[in-house]
Amino acid sequence: MTVLKSARKTVNRCLFPLGLEVIRKDSHDSRDQSNFLPFERTIAAAERSGLSVGDYIDEVMNKQPGATQATIDGMMRLGVFARRITNVVEIGPGSGRYLEKTVAACSPTRYEVYETAAPWASYVKAKYNVILQPTDGQTLRATPDNSVDLVHAHKVFSSIPSLPTFIYWTEMARVCRNGGYAVFDILTEACLDLDTLQQWVDSGLDTGSYPAAMPRAIAVGYFSSRQFELVGTFVVPMTPGRTEVFVFRKA
Ligand SMILES: C[S@@+](CC[C@H](N)C(=O)[O-])C[C@H]1O[C@@H](n2cnc3c(N)ncnc32)[C@H](O)[C@@H]1O
Repeated sequence: MTVLKSARKTVNRCLFPLGLEVIRKDSHDSRDQSNFLPFERTIAAAERSGLSVGDYIDEVMNKQPGATQATIDGMMRLGVFARRITNVVEIGPGSGRYLEKTVAACSPTRYEVYETAAPWASYVKAKYNVILQPTDGQTLRATPDNSVDLVHAHKVFSSIPSLPTFIYWTEMARVCRNGGYAVFDILTEACLDLDTLQQWVDSGLDTGSYPAAMPRAIAVGYFSSRQFELVGTFVVPMTPGRTEVFVFRKA
């Protein structure tokens, strides 16, 4: 921890009873998961590296080249792109790294995003010509019932607390049409053992609600109770651990 950071912590401990907090004017609060990565710094660093922002996040930041494509390939193997997909909703696209590869895999005619981080939301809207829906952090209220072929979220439900995740699940079930897919990852017991727990502890991350864990049975049970069948799951890296991707199909 830097001297400045440690001084800020001490001052903030004193200010806490007054309900006040000192933050650096240009600082990015990594504990605030509704903000994603610092926008300008990440875009500039990607440009310097000569990589796309998505590849920069995979290769340089996460040291997992090809990680995003591996998830898309897993979805492909489980049949998500086997039938024509016209309407897609994505929750929390961030830089758009999954968005870009999803569009490449299925060329949808309509792609809606719900994203809380304002600069990233504007960025993906402009770069990928997608529909940015009003985002309240838990519902998909601008999307009609039974209207989308694919509703997905990547590394979002490991970032936010469980209640907004549960509410998003009800919304995913609502907007997905029969025969459509709901895809998301959660940090389940398949992704946690004592060594991995220690790796998270040793990571030094100061990231608020991330990584949030979730029992897999509750996801499987919930979607099964809403007319979905579990097509399959696969585990992908989420530094310094991993996360389980679920593919559900609505009957
Ligand atoms: C860990 S990032 C993952 C971003 C992207 N899906 C990826 O994997 O590169 C979580 C994303 O969800 C967004 N987010 C956080 N809370 C959200 C919420 N309640 N509703 C919608 N988006 C949210 C963040 O701004 C961020 O873009």
